[in-house]
Amino acid sequence: MNALVGGRIANLTRVQLEGMIGERRPVIVDIGAGDGKFVYRLAADQPDAFCIGIDANQDNLLKQSKRVRRKPTRGGKDNILYLVSRVQEITDELQSIADEVFVNLPWGELLHGIVVPKPELLSSIRRICMPGAPLRLSLYHQTAGAPTPLVLADLPELTPAYLDSVVMPGLEQSGFQVTDVCRVGSEEIRQIGTTWARKLAQNQLAEAVQVEATATRPLQRQTGDTPPSPSGKNLAGTHSASYTFKCSGHPNIRGTHHKTVEFTRDNEITGRATCVLGVAADFSLADLQNIVGNVTVEIAVGDSSETFHATVNPAYGDSERMIFRKSRLPTEQTFAVDLDKPASQFTRSFIRSLSDPDASIMVTVKQK
Ligand SMILES: C[S@@+](CC[C@H](N)C(=O)[O-])C[C@H]1O[C@@H](n2cnc3c(N)ncnc32)[C@H](O)[C@@H]1O
Repeated sequence: MNALVGGRIANLTRVQLEGMIGERRPVIVDIGAGDGKFVYRLAADQPDAFCIGIDANQDNLLKQSKRVRRKPTRGGKDNILYLVSRVQEITDELQSIADEVFVNLPWGELLHGIVVPKPELLSSIRRICMPGAPLRLSLYHQTAGAPTPLVLADLPELTPAYLDSVVMPGLEQSGFQVTDVCRVGSEEIRQIGTTWARKLAQNQLAEAVQVEATATRPLQRQTGDTPPSPSGKNLAGTHSASYTFKCSGHPNIRGTHHKTVEFTRDNEITGRATCVLGVAADFSLADLQNIVGNVTVEIAVGDSSETFHATVNPAYGDSERMIFRKSRLPTEQTFAVDLDKPASQFTRSFIRSLSDPDASIMVTVKQK
């Protein structure tokens, strides 16, 4: 991906980005960041967060990108990254990175893709979001008395009927659940706090539509489309549900990995598989793919159990391995990211019971 470092473009890999983010949370992404000032203020107000501003136009971002490279006393920040790209061209590298996404007063193809709507563009925004991440969207809306800005000239008017019948279904079909829609006037537009918002708010007749949505699955299932899980509960709904599978212990289970936990369908592992906590697992990919959002996982063996938490990766698609990672590397084998307890943090007595080849281990994944 094209990172803007000071005044020049540098290629940045996903692994390097993970390294920059480290333990910082939340990760906030501003799409169509314009001059990047909004994201700068977010980063200044939330030093524990990591903020990413994306814009197709490098010139827009230049000034802020140089500013963040200065010394901290002169406005420098190490919790911001500016990326130069059309959002549609970047999403693989940013997959599931964001805990919160803003799209403030877009124009051009970004605005068209939301208002018309275009599934490719909306899905690219969706892919950046972690499941459960809020999307905060503001769309400029032209009113009768105000001159038509060029950016709106060939777009349909955002009437309540058009919003209900076209814009909101477009978002929902691309994996967002819309939670709030409201029409606001010039004072609320000013409070959005971006440069463009301030410009638009000078017109007393200006109106905007603000939409709050939450990322669900990338593609929503139709009602009645969801296969039941073995526990007989519908895991794709919004209520909590759980899925339990069985696996076996193995003498090579060491549980010393500092970043991951894994369950595998393989019967055998070597001593190098330090993240594996159960072999011969009988989970089914189809059932696991019905689980979304934040999960609590309980591993039970004999009378003891230990739990951990993580967030499901919507791109998971491996029928043999189920990996939980501390990082956000959303590979196909990664069932969940943001793991809060890697193998090395389990008690050693618990790991010893998993290394008994006769151990019968029950793993319950509970959706919150
Ligand atoms: C009206 S400006 C708003 C900037 C900023 N959000 C604000 O409120 O001040 C819209 C921005 O969207 C960017 N943009 C348009 N299409 C885009 C795309 N496909 N991907 C990323 N940025 C895009 C433009 O380059 C422009 O900077």
